[in-house]
Amino acid sequence: MISQEDVLYAYRLLLGREPENEEVLRQHASQVSSRFELRELFINSVEFRAKIESLIAPRQPRVPVGGPAMAVDLTAPPDQLSALLAKVSAQWHYLGATEPHWSVLTLESYLKENFDQNSAAFFASGEAEAKSFDAVLSRAGVDTTHFRRCLELGCGVGRVTAALASRFETVQAVDISAAHLQLARSHLAGFNIDNVDFWQLTSVADLQGVNGFDVLYSRIVLQHNPPPVIALLLNQLLAKLRPSGVAFFQVPTYKAGYRFTVAEYLEQKNSTHMEMHYFPQTALLSLLARQNCNVLEIREDDAIGISVNAVSNTLLVQKAMA
Ligand SMILES: C[S@@+](CC[C@H](N)C(=O)[O-])C[C@H]1O[C@@H](n2cnc3c(N)ncnc32)[C@H](O)[C@@H]1O
Repeated sequence: MISQEDVLYAYRLLLGREPENEEVLRQHASQVSSRFELRELFINSVEFRAKIESLIAPRQPRVPVGGPAMAVDLTAPPDQLSALLAKVSAQWHYLGATEPHWSVLTLESYLKENFDQNSAAFFASGEAEAKSFDAVLSRAGVDTTHFRRCLELGCGVGRVTAALASRFETVQAVDISAAHLQLARSHLAGFNIDNVDFWQLTSVADLQGVNGFDVLYSRIVLQHNPPPVIALLLNQLLAKLRPSGVAFFQVPTYKAGYRFTVAEYLEQKNSTHMEMHYFPQTALLSLLARQNCNVLEIREDDAIGISVNAVSNTLLVQKAMA
């Protein structure tokens, strides 16, 4: 027999977090009959494995500096940009209709059939991300007192949105998928959060209607868009970022062997799986310079996993004073 206290310590020591509720303690305590079995249960969980992989990751060799250049189309004429965005939309509508929470964080515990018992951990991870954002801002010495309006690009099911809403006067939460937005809306309504304005991005033209804002927040979103769409989104949104406002965003910047050709891509059938795209770092830095944004911090992150021969970056940039 093992006690609920044993299970509590397993949560703290192996998963590094508090259990969702007392019910899960009772459940696990009755599920196993020894500490050995309890340990096996935890170390074989998807959550523990994901954690351990990210801990080991930094010790693995990173992408070699001598890798080849990527051949990437970075621009496209308006009709092709619309067609590219339509493909992104189709993909995320499918994911939103089938596995909305798993499509945000691809862990088994967030599949439809497991989500209810893991929802607390899912939303707690959003608050943790917002705290990392606080830390980045503070490290860079950014004065946030005059920031009023935040735009979150790709809010998904609202995992981070509630945390952003507690930090800024208003949040405009934008997503391409109606199903994700619907879940985000009801999640925030459950907490009586009423300073978030949800908005579905349905076309390239919609971007013109965005009002000025002080903070742009976007993580694990741009990566699912073809490079010309990444350029479009960053150009249009950074143009609306107010002077001395900041953008905190993540984008993959290198994968050995990645290539992207608009014409070839548009000939392919719409895919139902999550795509991953890469935007060359040199082009990204030039785009930021053209948009009058100074890079305050740039980090390699683990947003795209650790096994790929690729680099993802998280950046904090600040719009120069007019
Ligand atoms: C992996 S989820 C991440 C959601 C959220 N950022 C989070 O961290 O919880 C990606 C989200 O971005 C949305 N998305 C992808 N491309 C988009 C685009 N071009 N414009 C707006 N939303 C987009 C998807 O519909 C999906 O909800």
